Amino acid sequence: MTRPLVVIGAGGFGRETLDVVAAVNAAASTPVYDLLGVIDAGPSELNLRRLADLGVPYLGSETEWLERGESAEYAIGIGAPAVRVRLATLFDDHGLSPATLVHPAVVVGSKSLLDPGVIVCAGVQISTNVQLQRHVHLNPNVTIGHDSILEPFVSVNPGAIVSGEVTVGSGTVIGSGAVILQGLSIGSESVIGAAACVVGDVPPQVTVKGVPAR
Ligand SMILES: CC(C)(COP(=O)(O)OP(=O)(O)OC[C@H]1O[C@@H](n2cnc3c(N)ncnc32)[C@H](O)[C@@H]1OP(=O)(O)O)[C@@H](O)C(=O)NCCC(=O)NCCS
Repeated sequence: MTRPLVVIGAGGFGRETLDVVAAVNAAASTPVYDLLGVIDAGPSELNLRRLADLGVPYLGSETEWLERGESAEYAIGIGAPAVRVRLATLFDDHGLSPATLVHPAVVVGSKSLLDPGVIVCAGVQISTNVQLQRHVHLNPNVTIGHDSILEPFVSVNPGAIVSGEVTVGSGTVIGSGAVILQGLSIGSESVIGAAACVVGDVPPQVTVKGVPAR
């Protein structure tokens, strides 16, 4: 039986999430998800046109949709961790469950665990014994090394490499093409700049950038 699903966010990552859903459905013998449409509190005209081009219905704001009392799994296709925290709390409080969406062109190693709400785009490599906790986002072509733990609401932007035995604290953003060396601990709500090479632990709530990252 197909599972009703709403995607939250009409922006770039929201529509990348739609592609993941389409690929999951196409790879299965019968579609897994019945995509009801996209929820967004303030979509731009351009993004509404982009949704229309995809043939995906726009369902209104989260408040409008939740007031209708429909039941569906939800996926938050929004890159900013703080926004994801707010929306996940809201949808969970309404008794709805987050879907775990993994593009079929993803390699997931043995003993790796992906929690509800995780979204993984095409080309990602997840090694062995990795934990992706709730609502972690992995953008295209990310690599996550063995025994690493990504805490809730971490976002890893395209092409970044997290080496083995790394811990990334909740709500941290790892910029495109950044490299985190093995065994390091990255604090929560930090930002790693695009193309940074992180060679030491990073405290919570700081931004580091450059090679080596400072
Ligand atoms: C590092 C980052 C968080 C800094 O953002 P910010 O605080 O708004 O910084 P600014 O753009 O004001 O730039 C401040 C300085 O840092 C430099 N800088 C910005 N990003 C940098 C980066 N990734 N590496 C090295 N230097 C960088 C700027 O050139 C500027 O230098 P200056 O003071 O000598 O002029 C941001 O640039 C970044 O890399 N974010 C990740 C983006 C990403 O992954 N995007 C993909 C989305 S899918």
